[in-house]
Amino acid sequence: MAEIVIVHDEAAAGALVADEIVRLIGADPATVLGLATGSTPLPVYEALRPRLHGVDVSRVRGFALDEYVGIDPAHPESYRSVIAREVVEPLGLDPSRIRTPDGSADGIERHGEEYEAAIAEAGGIDLQILGIGTDGHIGFNEPGSSFASRTRVKTLTEQTRRDNARFFDSIDDVPMHCITQGLGTILRARHLVLLAFGEGKAAAVAAAVEGPLTASLPGSAIQLHPHATVIVDESAASHLARADYYRYTYANKPDWQGI
Ligand code: PGA
Repeated sequence: MAEIVIVHDEAAAGALVADEIVRLIGADPATVLGLATGSTPLPVYEALRPRLHGVDVSRVRGFALDEYVGIDPAHPESYRSVIAREVVEPLGLDPSRIRTPDGSADGIERHGEEYEAAIAEAGGIDLQILGIGTDGHIGFNEPGSSFASRTRVKTLTEQTRRDNARFFDSIDDVPMHCITQGLGTILRARHLVLLAFGEGKAAAVAAAVEGPLTASLPGSAIQLHPHATVIVDESAASHLARADYYRYTYANKPDWQGI
């Protein structure tokens, strides 16, 4: 099963993940990171900033999970712009080594395969940061997504478009389609780190971690992964049946294991 770590706040979660990323880069300066957008990963990027002072990040590579289809790449809410603003610039990464799926409509039928090839050429993703949608999606793999899926175009659910309307002037401006790493793509990353904060995520987290393995709840795919870490605050943990066991396990974990 995934390791579940219940922390008291987002900053503690960010620190745990940032420490692991710094350790990875120290061991391999060409570490390949799987980057997520949305509100959830922000504490990780904030915690990374001071920790990367003096660390050579010139060879770090990164692949974003997803992108809207048809959005102008220069639009402030394109994930290309979001990753540049929230990750690449503050952390001093080399923009030429950071990719988002190509969401331009022209040639969209080829962009998934091209993205898969780029990830493979980089040697695969070492650590993939994940959030989870209120409908259980990871990346933009909406309910029903195949566990074997690769990077491809998906249609966003109304629920996801409503959730993301906060980033746009209105829900009508949220694109209908996205291009996202598939569940099969995500499962090939060497370490999955899924973060969730707040009561609104509690049901999705419990279903992903303790519910049946089902494409109807794409986050449950993490149960198939040999090294998955789920880091949640008390609110997001509030529907977990075995929360006491997870606390006990983590409290008794040998220091050498890391996350
Ligand atoms: P959020 O989105 O981090 O903005 O809540 C998570 C997701 O949709 O995967």
